[in-house]
Amino acid sequence: MSTQHSIDRATCADLDAADPLAAFRERFELPAGVVYLDGNSLGALPRSTPAHLERVIREEWGTGLIRSWNDAGWFDKPRTLGDRIAPLIGAAPGEVVLGDSTSASLFQVAVAAARLRPGRNAIVSERSSFPTDLYMLESVQELAGDGSGDPLERRLIDDESDLDAVLGDDVAVVVLTHVNYRTGRMYDLAEVTRRVHEAGALMVWDLCHSVGAVPVDLNAAGADFAIGCTYKYLNGGPGSPSFIWVASRHLATARPPLTGWHGHARPFDFGIDYAPADGITRFRVGTPQLLSVAGLEASLDVWADVDLEALREKSLRLTELFIALVDTRLAPWGVEVVSPRQSAKRGSQVALRFAEAGDALEAGDGYAVMQAIIERGVIGDFRAPDLMRFGFAPLYVSHTDVWDAVAVIEEVLASEVWREPRYARRGAVT
Ligand SMILES: Cc1ncc(COP(=O)(O)O)c(C=O)c1O
Repeated sequence: MSTQHSIDRATCADLDAADPLAAFRERFELPAGVVYLDGNSLGALPRSTPAHLERVIREEWGTGLIRSWNDAGWFDKPRTLGDRIAPLIGAAPGEVVLGDSTSASLFQVAVAAARLRPGRNAIVSERSSFPTDLYMLESVQELAGDGSGDPLERRLIDDESDLDAVLGDDVAVVVLTHVNYRTGRMYDLAEVTRRVHEAGALMVWDLCHSVGAVPVDLNAAGADFAIGCTYKYLNGGPGSPSFIWVASRHLATARPPLTGWHGHARPFDFGIDYAPADGITRFRVGTPQLLSVAGLEASLDVWADVDLEALREKSLRLTELFIALVDTRLAPWGVEVVSPRQSAKRGSQVALRFAEAGDALEAGDGYAVMQAIIERGVIGDFRAPDLMRFGFAPLYVSHTDVWDAVAVIEEVLASEVWREPRYARRGAVT
């Protein structure tokens, strides 16, 4: 933000008044007195969700009972809602289906991808992946081995610049997260996909921190597979289902490892042998968690009205404003911005930490500082060992929220209230 030295709260209010997305805030329930900067972990509640869930529960379940599998379209929901996610990620109709958890969906696509590259015995991912991705890949390595009985070899990169060193004609699949969960660093999806394809490997993207945060165009990039979650920026609700995207060109030949009856060509024949359904349906497994699916359905009504370019513009205005205010107001305490400063390389979140040189504060103090901030109504989160993470969901975070958040952080640091021992007590979830 070029005018950083002249920013005040009134400037932020002016930016809010001119914000083309401002009206979306009214479509969410947010508690009074809270600045919610954790929509990258769990999205806020859309106002329409409780009534929709009540209708699904009372009418579709209570009155419709078993008939709702047909009458309310329950059986096809993973497909019909997949088609509504498609425009958010540059996918075509029929390429997206709802899954179970993101972890399970990663397993589905990574094994399917490896099976499309037989004879290649390595899989590439990155050390800074969300750990569940690496944990799931351990099983993928074991189960999708090249037929020799040996597991696939794992090669981990630290950065995009390491790719060339690990990509060879023995690599089957590359699994990367588009926007990093800790730093918000964003890969150039098309460019990385191109390099992976040059080596003859297939590209799997984890879009957990991208969908609903930044524009994504999987088909323009020519990617192969993707997965993502819907409880973050998409606001589907806690535990809402993941989604799976498979490029049309792979749909006829891809063989997912979990071969449940909802992915069967004729589930109600109840035959004893598995036969994959046509198209993306073969990536389904079993009965979908329909109440969670209903939460997602309500939030997708909001997304149907969102202009994704305007979303990205606002996201960048918010993160640039936050970075400018951190630089000018929090520097005295050694607070540094860990996320990329170059906008094109940043998703919709900003991570901060205390510089090692900071005398009063150390890396781990970020946890206590975050708890003190949360108690004062500014909700972010902490990722060990040292990151304070703030997400900026453009549909409901305003420019004045950003101003107020930095003011609270400044007050917590200046007063040193965070040193009270209760703030250092850790809960099971940080
Ligand atoms: C990049 C990434 N992948 C996967 C997950 C988790 O997946 P699951 O939905 O299986 O808990 C997260 C959760 O925050 C994530 O950030």
